[in-house]
Amino acid sequence: MMNELFNDVVSAYINGEFVAPEDARISAFDRGLIFGDGIYEVVPIYGGQAFRWDEHLARLNNNLDVVGIRQPYTRQDWAKVLVGLLSRATEQDHYLYIQVTRGVAPRNHVFPDSAEPTVFAYVQKLAPVAESAVTQGVKVVTIPDFRWHRCDIKTTSLIANVWLRQQAKEQGAAEAVLVRDGVVTEGAATNVFAVMNGIVRTAPQGPNLLPGITRDLVVELMARHGVSYEERAFTEQQMIDAEEVWITSSTNEVMPVSRINDNVVSEGRPGPAFQRVYDLYQQYKAQCRTDAKQNVG
Ligand code: PDD
Repeated sequence: MMNELFNDVVSAYINGEFVAPEDARISAFDRGLIFGDGIYEVVPIYGGQAFRWDEHLARLNNNLDVVGIRQPYTRQDWAKVLVGLLSRATEQDHYLYIQVTRGVAPRNHVFPDSAEPTVFAYVQKLAPVAESAVTQGVKVVTIPDFRWHRCDIKTTSLIANVWLRQQAKEQGAAEAVLVRDGVVTEGAATNVFAVMNGIVRTAPQGPNLLPGITRDLVVELMARHGVSYEERAFTEQQMIDAEEVWITSSTNEVMPVSRINDNVVSEGRPGPAFQRVYDLYQQYKAQCRTDAKQNVG
């Protein structure tokens, strides 16, 4: 009964052990549970290969350093975890979830003197992005960004983000686009792009948004293929008036927005700049699958 919850989870890992998902357990005193004192990553796995693996590991390690949690594993250690988790996976797409917490200790806000980081990871089937979302676009709503001032840290303390996404859902929207002092920061779990006067804009990296791996890849692809872009913040009104708007994340890829609150964007369908960047993204993905096959062979 309970196991049905984990139907899509292929395999789990906790502190050196590969376990069945329903047996994945940690102490109730883990600081991840008590304080949300941990860092996480979500990494797509295409063709058995972790997508932008180096970038995800670099962000994980950087975040661990920032919050003073010891980096538990080397790159080789993480690769072993991934290979072990994938050993029971099929050909289809998956994602890898990684969480590192400050470990188990009696409750005290101050960091414990000696606690081993808790490492939890699992591989789960990745549902393909809905075709209707890509062909028709999704609705988003704007909501004041009431989060803290270190949104660049991918922490498991996500109560603000889950609450914001829930508010979006209750308004019939796929995402909450967050606005701080009139300026768009990011989505509850995505980064935001807007096209103005034919130039693609996305907010520059900084403390108010996550440096999304997908965002950075889209910027990289635009630079490589001569798409005009600027890393420059924009206001809520500029976004509403924009020619096109998209959101990006590891699980949503590049997704067009066709409505913001009660406003229609881009005549209610994906625009040409989206189509160009979406195609570049899909080509890049396809190349990663091909490279993965060649590595195996
Ligand atoms: N979320 N901003 C926030 C607040 C996010 O939580 C995410 C990703 C992103 C996009 O980052 P990336 O391109 O690296 O996935 C931006 C993940 C997918 C999640 O929490 O499930």
